[in-house]
Amino acid sequence: MLVLGIESSCDETGVALVEWEGAAVPRLASHALHSQIAMHQAYGGVVPELASRDHIRRVLPLTQTVFDEAGKRLADVDVVAYTRGPGLAGALLVGAGVACALGAALGKPVLGVHHLEGHLLSPFLSEDPPEFPFVALLVSGGHTQLMRVDGVGRYEILGETIDDAAGEAFDKSAKLMGLPYPGGPWLAKLAEQGDPAAFKLPRPLLHSGDLDFSFAGLKTAVLTQAKKLGDQLDVRKADLAASTQAAIVEVLLKKSLSALAETGLKRLVVAGGVGANRMLRQQLDAACAQRGVRVHYPELHLCTDNGAMIAMAAAMRLQAGLQEATEAYAFDVKPR
Ligand code: KG4
Ligand code: ZN
Repeated sequence: MLVLGIESSCDETGVALVEWEGAAVPRLASHALHSQIAMHQAYGGVVPELASRDHIRRVLPLTQTVFDEAGKRLADVDVVAYTRGPGLAGALLVGAGVACALGAALGKPVLGVHHLEGHLLSPFLSEDPPEFPFVALLVSGGHTQLMRVDGVGRYEILGETIDDAAGEAFDKSAKLMGLPYPGGPWLAKLAEQGDPAAFKLPRPLLHSGDLDFSFAGLKTAVLTQAKKLGDQLDVRKADLAASTQAAIVEVLLKKSLSALAETGLKRLVVAGGVGANRMLRQQLDAACAQRGVRVHYPELHLCTDNGAMIAMAAAMRLQAGLQEATEAYAFDVKPR
């Protein structure tokens, strides 16, 4: 079976081919990605209309690339998968439209995939995929969730953010410090030269006794600190970045450890863009090693949005017999 996957929920256009035989773990045949980050940087954030237009420009050339690289033809495709949501409506419609058009032209069914399920299952694209069951920490620009995962499609939310996502906390704090968009990786880089204990910033809900998160107050505290520093902000920026990162990472770490303790599970999967953060990885690795917990991450280049995870999630759902692909070809997107 060969699945073509298309991701266009936000500011990356991703296309990939995933194939499998019988019960074997599906494998990535090829993938191609175009990031719009440089285009949106001038505006300090994603401009939805520009995102949609750029997806339109990129999606067919990228599709051609994945077929060329895998040595496959359009006619080899069994199912066309696309990101159904969540994401920007216009951006999602590009991927859905192309998927439905290709499906209709080829006489092959289409399948809409939940973007977060793509992130969640992205570690299965690595050489050493996790086994079920596991705890998943899903940390992206739009979501922060802890989940118990017993199998494909068997997900229980243990806790989630009540306001901003972890990636949003990185991005908004970075913006306050005058760093480019998207701020997460820039803040993380700057933090390497700073003192994480320089500023006392809040760790919201750290002792709440549940597995929920809240990051809005942290952003406000960073703003207050930045204002207080005034002219001094420029010379203390690395310290503020390091302190912000330390606050976010500590909360993510402690809550993940609580989720592992509560469920008694010995495997943790970390997925989503913030999963690329080096400090988070170091601290999770160290703490989990002490507790005999194995940590799995997607490969670094598959942490942020990509088509491979969408094709993979579609393949795993189809293989598990969870979902029928459809020949209805309705543009079916779900932004929220
Ligand atoms: O999963 P993703 O590509 O998109 C969403 O589905 O939201 O995640 C993007 C988020 C952004 O907030 C970005 O700043 C953050 O992931 N991010 C990072 C790092 N790399 C990406 N945050 C902290 N440290 C990083 N190294
Ligand atoms: Zn994402």
